[in-house]
Amino acid sequence: MDLYANIPNNVNLAQDKRLQRALEKWLPNYLDWWREMGPDGFQEKEVWLRTAVDVGSEGWAHFDYVKMPDYRWGIFLEPAQPNAKVGFGDNYGQPAYQEVPGEFRNALRRIIVTQGDTEPASVEQQRQLGKTCPSLYDLRNLFQVNVEEGRHLWAMVYLLHGFFGRDGRDEADALLERRSGNPDKPRILEAFNQPCDDWLNFFAFTMFTDRDGKYQLSALAESGFEPLARTCKFMLTEEAHHMFVGDTGLGRVVKRTAQLMKEGDPRTLGGIPLDIIQRYINFWFSYSLDLFGGEISSNSADFFAAGLKGRYKEQDQYSEHTATSEIFTLMVVEDSRLKPREIPLRNALNEVLRQEYIKDCEKGLARWNKILDEEGLSERLALPNSRFHRHVGEYANHTFDVAGNLISAEEFEARRIEWLPTMADREYVRSLMHAVTEPGKIANWIAQPSTGIKGKPFEFEYVRL
Ligand SMILES: [Fe+2]
Ligand SMILES: [Fe+2]
Repeated sequence: MDLYANIPNNVNLAQDKRLQRALEKWLPNYLDWWREMGPDGFQEKEVWLRTAVDVGSEGWAHFDYVKMPDYRWGIFLEPAQPNAKVGFGDNYGQPAYQEVPGEFRNALRRIIVTQGDTEPASVEQQRQLGKTCPSLYDLRNLFQVNVEEGRHLWAMVYLLHGFFGRDGRDEADALLERRSGNPDKPRILEAFNQPCDDWLNFFAFTMFTDRDGKYQLSALAESGFEPLARTCKFMLTEEAHHMFVGDTGLGRVVKRTAQLMKEGDPRTLGGIPLDIIQRYINFWFSYSLDLFGGEISSNSADFFAAGLKGRYKEQDQYSEHTATSEIFTLMVVEDSRLKPREIPLRNALNEVLRQEYIKDCEKGLARWNKILDEEGLSERLALPNSRFHRHVGEYANHTFDVAGNLISAEEFEARRIEWLPTMADREYVRSLMHAVTEPGKIANWIAQPSTGIKGKPFEFEYVRL
């Protein structure tokens, strides 16, 4: 572990002068990007942040005040497994790839660039949120997520520089050039071009879109390309906190709304009505489902065959790792009707991963509904059907209601305001967003968290303003 190097790392960077030079050349460009596109207005403030200083589940992080541009973004991989093997696909059981196999080079670079692009994109989407934080605790969590997404960018750039030569370096540069929502040079995936300009968006984003990240990283943590697997395993350690922020953040909004509903109309009491929360859920859940790719996908089959991208918990959850003889039944639209179609399992692996994700999201909904129940309310929140409001895959060119029934485009448009955030919803939510920065205080539209961070109380001065 070299924590004092220009770029903290556990990949023996000092021994690889060529790579070290390349990354040290990229570093100032990264810092320029961070200053331009990172949290606006808080670069000189001291934030109580955790910094990765080791790998493994125990004692891997150090907590202290740091100004964000001084954050120690490092390159950390889980330790190599001796005799690691390719765990699935056509090369199952062969030694894991320590270098990029020539025939998979383009596919692998595409996977890494696509994952890498999401990391800075989310920082860009969230850069104005600090100005309207509901509490110092939330402000700190926002910045924690932001700096770690920055570190995840480093993780992917390390792979590009370390294993792909010239074109890898070009891709690493391009990761700093695209901008979320910019029509001329947008980020690669659509969810990462959507504005995330209020805290309800932020919590829904970290709940649903960061959770897509968990499933993508989990599938890549199974990869036969060992450096990628080891990188993604460690990123998952950090990612857990991001989803905690979203899950508990939305839970706290639901709790506060429930409290206000017992007093009257949350809208006249400065809270966020449940129907608006539901529409935000519908929006971010459906966009996040798109991130898994098409339901029927030859790419997913190729990635699996090559041993590059596995299934969720491939090793723990499955006993058969080639997936050659199984069939997957998917509902598809044929002659204006939903009908089952049988497809080879390997071509359905995006959908298999998406279903794991949906199961996980349902647990979040159950937690929020438990809060409603505990507050004595009978109203409930729900996930829309996975066919609803899709822009990628089998369902993209059809329209469905939230229950997954095929409906006409006219009916969808007529009912859009029931199901998806309206301009008025967004304006109303934005009207509630005013910074609360006194330690121990919280905005009216959200409940206080049950505990603080790392043993500190909620009242702790998480950011020195
Ligand atoms: Fe990330
Ligand atoms: Fe994340």
